[in-house]
Amino acid sequence: MTIAITGATGHLGRLVVEQLLARGVDPSTIVAGGRNEEVLARLAGQGVRTARVDYADASTLDAAFAGAEKILLISGNEPGRRTVQHKAVIDAARKADASLVYTSAPKATTSPLVLAPEHKATEGLLEGSGLTYTVLRNNWYTENYDDTIRQAASTGSFLTGAGGGRVASAPRRDFAEAAAAVLLSDDYAGEILELGGDEPWTFDELAATVSGVSGTPVTAHKLSGDEYVAALTAAGLDEGAARFTAALDANIADGALADGDGTLARIIGRPTMPLKQYVTELLAR
Ligand SMILES: NC(=O)c1ccc[n+]([C@@H]2O[C@H](COP(=O)([O-])OP(=O)(O)OC[C@H]3O[C@@H](n4cnc5c(N)ncnc54)[C@H](OP(=O)(O)O)[C@@H]3O)[C@@H](O)[C@H]2O)c1
Repeated sequence: MTIAITGATGHLGRLVVEQLLARGVDPSTIVAGGRNEEVLARLAGQGVRTARVDYADASTLDAAFAGAEKILLISGNEPGRRTVQHKAVIDAARKADASLVYTSAPKATTSPLVLAPEHKATEGLLEGSGLTYTVLRNNWYTENYDDTIRQAASTGSFLTGAGGGRVASAPRRDFAEAAAAVLLSDDYAGEILELGGDEPWTFDELAATVSGVSGTPVTAHKLSGDEYVAALTAAGLDEGAARFTAALDANIADGALADGDGTLARIIGRPTMPLKQYVTELLAR
């Protein structure tokens, strides 16, 4: 079976390739797709096949997917352009007669999350495509908070607009392991999987965890949306990016990322990485 992966040059995609290889998949049956030639060359060094994949150029998709039975569509990283990009991949998957696995967002079809509409649209395209597909509704990567954790450990505080909201995060590696398991099984065909960490945490708990690990007392300063936008722009973010970040935190405050139902742990066959372990490993690096 040949498995083609889009976004294989990105952080998650590289880990999925690693996980497939770790599970004994013959590297010559993996097609790692992306645009970054340097990373494609590094992937080729691991023995996998590589292909230039550009969502704006259908011929690259057709070439990459030729002979593939499964395709992992890792959602693009250009909000606002993703629905069209994902449609190109879905169209090419139909031509290749392959099944597809898509990385989406928590509760994409009903969530108020500002990032949800493009995932909802993509899931709608999949539903109407006639393809066999699986949706991985990935919660936040714990890596999203690397800078916050480092800053908290060195200064003793950080700002948040997420109030008492919880985040069911897990490290990318856990999501990559799940993607590899799903790609290698037929058991998940037709499923929409809500994937998140086992222990959703609040920002006060993040502060306490960083305190415990680093020995620096840490306070999470909770700001209103307007206060948070003002603080982010004062720190140098342009207003659009600041409003977007504050809107995501408001979504978290409203509970959009709060749920973890154990599905991720079940698929990977072990608990997801606890926040304390993540913080300990990050600060030790
Ligand atoms: N759950 C979360 O917390 C979270 C956080 C951030 C992002 N995400 C989503 O999860 C995805 C994977 O995360 P990540 O950390 O691996 O992101 P990443 O490192 O930014 O990787 C994005 C990948 O998408 C590829 N890509 C982007 N635009 C493309 C285009 N026009 N044509 C072909 N390939 C294109 C990139 O390829 P090249 O670099 O080779 O161009 C890269 O391989 C992101 O793209 C985003 O949709 C989720």
